[in-house]
Amino acid sequence: MTNKTQREFDVVLWGASGFTGALVAEHLLRRFGAGSSELHWALGGRNRGKLEALRSGLGSGAADLPIVIGDAGSPEDMRRVAELTRVVCSTVGPYAKYGSPLVEACVAVGTDYCDLTGEAPWMQRMIDAHQATAEASGARLVHTCGFDCIPSDLGTLFIQNEMKSRHGLVSPFVKLRVQGFSGGASGGTLASMFYMMEEARSDPRVMRAMGDPYALNPEGDRSGPDAAERLAPWYDSEFGQWSAPFVMGGINTKVVRRSNALLGYPFGRGFRYDEGVLMGSGFGGALKAGATAFGQGGVMAAAAVGPLRRFAEGRLPAPGEGPSPEAREKGYFDLLLHAVHPGDSTQTLRARVTGDRDPGYGSTSKMLGESAVCLARDSLPESGGFFTPASLLGEALRARLEAHAGLRFEIEGDEA
Ligand SMILES: NC(=O)c1ccc[n+]([C@@H]2O[C@H](COP(=O)([O-])OP(=O)(O)OC[C@H]3O[C@@H](n4cnc5c(N)ncnc54)[C@H](OP(=O)(O)O)[C@@H]3O)[C@@H](O)[C@H]2O)c1
Repeated sequence: MTNKTQREFDVVLWGASGFTGALVAEHLLRRFGAGSSELHWALGGRNRGKLEALRSGLGSGAADLPIVIGDAGSPEDMRRVAELTRVVCSTVGPYAKYGSPLVEACVAVGTDYCDLTGEAPWMQRMIDAHQATAEASGARLVHTCGFDCIPSDLGTLFIQNEMKSRHGLVSPFVKLRVQGFSGGASGGTLASMFYMMEEARSDPRVMRAMGDPYALNPEGDRSGPDAAERLAPWYDSEFGQWSAPFVMGGINTKVVRRSNALLGYPFGRGFRYDEGVLMGSGFGGALKAGATAFGQGGVMAAAAVGPLRRFAEGRLPAPGEGPSPEAREKGYFDLLLHAVHPGDSTQTLRARVTGDRDPGYGSTSKMLGESAVCLARDSLPESGGFFTPASLLGEALRARLEAHAGLRFEIEGDEA
């Protein structure tokens, strides 16, 4: 095993030929060119022809980018890839289908790793199987480095740090509400959702992990005050609006709770966290919230039923496809965080987290790219293991996202 500092590359972008991978490649190229002294990076994947076509499509500035080939299903290939680089940045999903040999290889040879998975049951399996080996090898692994879950996870860390510095305490209950967003889904994201629902049909542990609010906490520490995600709409009196469940809430909330646990419970053991989508007030808001909750529930139920899932698969974007450049450019997200003050409601703090592209791809690709660079370049805790964005990358990543990825973290009222 070579020392992490003696590797040929800082970052291998694994899955660069995919829809999201190509966007991460564009971002890294814009930031660092093809291998500056700031970052030595390479395109990685299984198909040389596709990767060469991607490199040509990126323009003459990309001509010197190295290409690394391997098959995600081969443990030998994945070990070779992991030994070449300090950080593997992976967009090869569904992760439960393709991702385990790569994680195992990174853990074995002490390579840092980040990805875009939102597949909680797979993350739980990886953590439980490899945490001890990662601690021994020094590999630092960070799942969920995209729209799920960076804005939720770093947003909560941000508002809690502001609570501490402004009021000298932390909030016992943080609520995230989606105020607006525009964007679509890629074939790879849909394939990952369908794959998880298919696994859940045959393996009750998958269903349990999806439903358990503390599924991602360290083993032996998987309980707390929060209940499972709501399925029905509700009236949010603090916001004066109706809310619907947020489709990403199931994964985001688990990651925020894991961050609290990994950081040693700085928000308290009684800390509560939830997410929703604001739908408006009055009868119109109630109707919209009801329709959204019903629609989401229907999609999940259909995804769990084989013939309905196959019918949908034939009509939705295929792997490699996703929102158009115009849709990504025009896209955005606007999230509101509300930190309840334990004793004085006038001291409640609100923050906004916003992004300048569609959340799933335009913005996610920049978040993932910056997470990989943060792992390779920033001064972070060095001990190995499975982390969350907030528990390892924290403020260093937030600074990068504000400087280079179009994200803003602001306390309401400070803008004036
Ligand atoms: N967290 C978030 O916010 C977020 C946002 C976006 C995407 N995602 C997740 O990211 C993942 C990728 O999404 P996507 O839309 O980019 O998917 P995609 O377009 O289907 O790309 C998948 C990539 O995996 C590669 N691949 C598949 N099998 C492989 C194998 N055996 N060996 C090596 N490479 C292999 C594909 O290579 P080929 O090109 O050769 O087929 C392609 O590069 C999905 O799991 C999705 O859910 C998450």
